[in-house]
Amino acid sequence: MAIIKIRNTNEVVSEENVGSFLAQYDVLYEHWDVAKLPEHLQGNCKINDDEKQEVLNVFDEEIRSLAERRGYQNWDVVALSDATPNLEELLKKFEQVHTHTEDEVRAIVAGHGTFVIKGTEEVGYFDVELEPGDVISVPEGYPHFFTLLDDRQVVAVRLFIDSTGWVAHPYQEAN
Ligand SMILES: [Fe+2]
Repeated sequence: MAIIKIRNTNEVVSEENVGSFLAQYDVLYEHWDVAKLPEHLQGNCKINDDEKQEVLNVFDEEIRSLAERRGYQNWDVVALSDATPNLEELLKKFEQVHTHTEDEVRAIVAGHGTFVIKGTEEVGYFDVELEPGDVISVPEGYPHFFTLLDDRQVVAVRLFIDSTGWVAHPYQEAN
């Protein structure tokens, strides 16, 4: 289950309200059963290309269901860990608030990740801390950024309508 923390107030959204909190921002939130993964892939964020394909095979049904419902056309697997060259630089790049012209869809299958999303004026930014099995789609045009948690590693399935739509457009706060 994802944990939601509101930055301005340090408030944590209670577990039973996570779904409805995200729904008010049109953020899709679903769950996949990561127990389906073979043992060598559970919690393993240092995976090679063959293992990434294995992840796609295991979740083929879930991926196709999501794609069919929401129009996604292609998908891949991203893995980040201390084995990733330039992890620090990558994270710095990720941590800039931006928008996209299509949904940003991530299904966490190992490790953790956080989306920091801009809510209403009153709420401000909120963190959505994701654990294995959490599936999220940040809607088109929503200011957000992505970062890792303390374990500093993640494996996620990404789905795209058109991968060129996933270019980051820097977001400027209005003063
Ligand atoms: Fe993004």
